[in-house]
Amino acid sequence: MPTSQNSEKKNIVIFASGNGSNAENIIKYFRNTGSARVMAVFSNNRTAKVLRRAHDLDVKALHFDREALYDSDDVLHLLKDMKPDLIVLAGFLWIFPKKILKCFPNKVINIHPALLPKYGGKGMYGMNVHKAILEQKEIKTGISIHFVNDKYDEGELIFQATTEIEPGDKVEDIAAKVHELEYEHFPKVIEKLLFASEDA
Ligand code: GAR
Repeated sequence: MPTSQNSEKKNIVIFASGNGSNAENIIKYFRNTGSARVMAVFSNNRTAKVLRRAHDLDVKALHFDREALYDSDDVLHLLKDMKPDLIVLAGFLWIFPKKILKCFPNKVINIHPALLPKYGGKGMYGMNVHKAILEQKEIKTGISIHFVNDKYDEGELIFQATTEIEPGDKVEDIAAKVHELEYEHFPKVIEKLLFASEDA
């Protein structure tokens, strides 16, 4: 929570590849608190629901391709112009480029739908994660929020929360429990990071 009433409004940029329920939740959370705003939502997927959600909430919705992210500096230039205080990956499925990480040190975070370091890595996203957890007969799962580096799901951990898996839970039940944790905690962790230096 921002401690000072004079705290400047912070700027967030979100990257997402699919549905975008976390992106929408974050946009709405900061509309309510007024402490920050989501300036733009970027997606690598032109037909992703997240772009529609952003558009409907009057947030700039931008599509980019591999060329713009990795080969040219198009996305990097857009980000440099926007000067976000935090870049949030919320269901973003591509590796984040080193050159952007270098320009925004400790300013790129990701949410992962499991208790890292377990069930992370390439191919471990969304329902694939919950299926693997069910197959391994785990009795708990959760969420991990971490700084991003140039490997899948390996940056320094910031926050974790857990939820129990009950006998009889299906993949969809696990996904719903994990999403609930994400909606509750992700915006608050973002807010804490944004205002951490001011609290010190
Ligand atoms: C979320 O559960 C997020 O943790 C996961 O994708 C889902 C996106 O849901 N991210 C990953 O699996 C990244 N490895 P949403 O599009 O409804 O926000």
